Amino acid sequence: MRVLLLGSGGREHALALGLADDEAVTRLVAAPGNPGIAEVAEVRPDVPVTDPAAVAALAVDVQADLVVVGPEAPLVAGVADAVRAKGIACFGPGAAAARLEGSKAFAKEVMGAAGVPTARSRTATDPDTAAEALDEFGPPYVVKDDGLAAGKGVVVTTDRDEALAHAATCAQVVIEEYLDGPEVSLFAICDGTTAVPLLPAQDHKRIGDGDTGPNTGGMGAYAPLPWAPPDLVAQVMDRIVHPTLAEMARRGAPYTGALYVGLALTARGPAVVEFNCRLGDPEAQVELALLQTPLTGLLHAAATGALASHPPLRWRPGAAVCVVVASSGYPVAVRTGDVITGAERPGVLHAGTARREDGSLVSAGGRVLACTATGADLDSARRAAYALVDGVGLVGSQHRTDIALAAVRGEVRIPQR
Ligand code: AMP
Ligand code: GLY
Repeated sequence: MRVLLLGSGGREHALALGLADDEAVTRLVAAPGNPGIAEVAEVRPDVPVTDPAAVAALAVDVQADLVVVGPEAPLVAGVADAVRAKGIACFGPGAAAARLEGSKAFAKEVMGAAGVPTARSRTATDPDTAAEALDEFGPPYVVKDDGLAAGKGVVVTTDRDEALAHAATCAQVVIEEYLDGPEVSLFAICDGTTAVPLLPAQDHKRIGDGDTGPNTGGMGAYAPLPWAPPDLVAQVMDRIVHPTLAEMARRGAPYTGALYVGLALTARGPAVVEFNCRLGDPEAQVELALLQTPLTGLLHAAATGALASHPPLRWRPGAAVCVVVASSGYPVAVRTGDVITGAERPGVLHAGTARREDGSLVSAGGRVLACTATGADLDSARRAAYALVDGVGLVGSQHRTDIALAAVRGEVRIPQR
């Protein structure tokens, strides 16, 4: 099978490794790719991946049997629709279904119609309505830019002035009730009607240890979750994923691809914090480190409506941990162009890197590397991931030192009623 992969982050490097490892893949092309992906795929760095016509033309040109879309921007732009219009299978929702991530207001509307548990919310386009909504729900305030913001458009704060100031920077803002409880990322691989869950994972969204500082795209992740209730996946599939797929199909926008269900495990049960239309980054890195089932067959089955006859997923025993090494200044003022050393060891995935003409590897984004390791248990996976981090050289880099630590210590608690 010839596969075209879109994207350039750590998630896509993990996908590229999984696809390249799969004997079903005869040719792997990636656009734009990154220096890590270039080691296992032909890269096309100049293709504008949010341009549906350009991607469809590339898919035809490389005679792709399957296009795998990593990030949200091409999906929201309609790349999957353009690829499918050429008769080529595509893993990823069309534009109408990708609105589940592209518009938080739309996602709330779908959840309401499907009876999916989520925070109560209000949408505002002017400061007075925003202020009213803040006072209706009270602190901590949750203020979300309605459009795509790569995980950085959300401010959670007890400071009413800061909440109002963030609302003022957004054309349309969603203000919602605070959900109290540990966060979980659960991804469902969907083919429009059938859905297969991956392992529950946990990301760490804030920049600083102990969940302090601003939100980022994600600073580290681990899976599985030793503290999760045994029926968590079944509950999420029954109450959230299946009703959402049914509602999207009813609206004529069947959902194909990875549905990212961001949850808070509250005293009243799991509630949706957000939907994304793709795998999480860095959660995908830990999922793919543990998945033993060949990736191509799974993604192709999702893309062609054949998941019902796909064999059950097989997972490596043990656990995986990913620690993100970010550049100086991330997420506020990212510094790029610094030389990186120690990135050649297996498990050091490229997230924001570039290769200079002289061959040196330099930082080229906020999240630079995703150091990913497995182990017999969470503690040993964690040690192995941090050993990779310790071997990386990057001036001014930042990483959290507490990824998966609360879980290893048995300190993650779900609030009780
Ligand atoms: P989102 O982009 O919607 O995932 O929001 C980014 C982060 O903000 C989430 O991962 C949570 O940590 C936090 N967040 C978003 N919505 C809520 C909420 N209703 N209650 C508590 N925290 C939230
Ligand atoms: N890790 C969070 C995200 O991918 O949105």
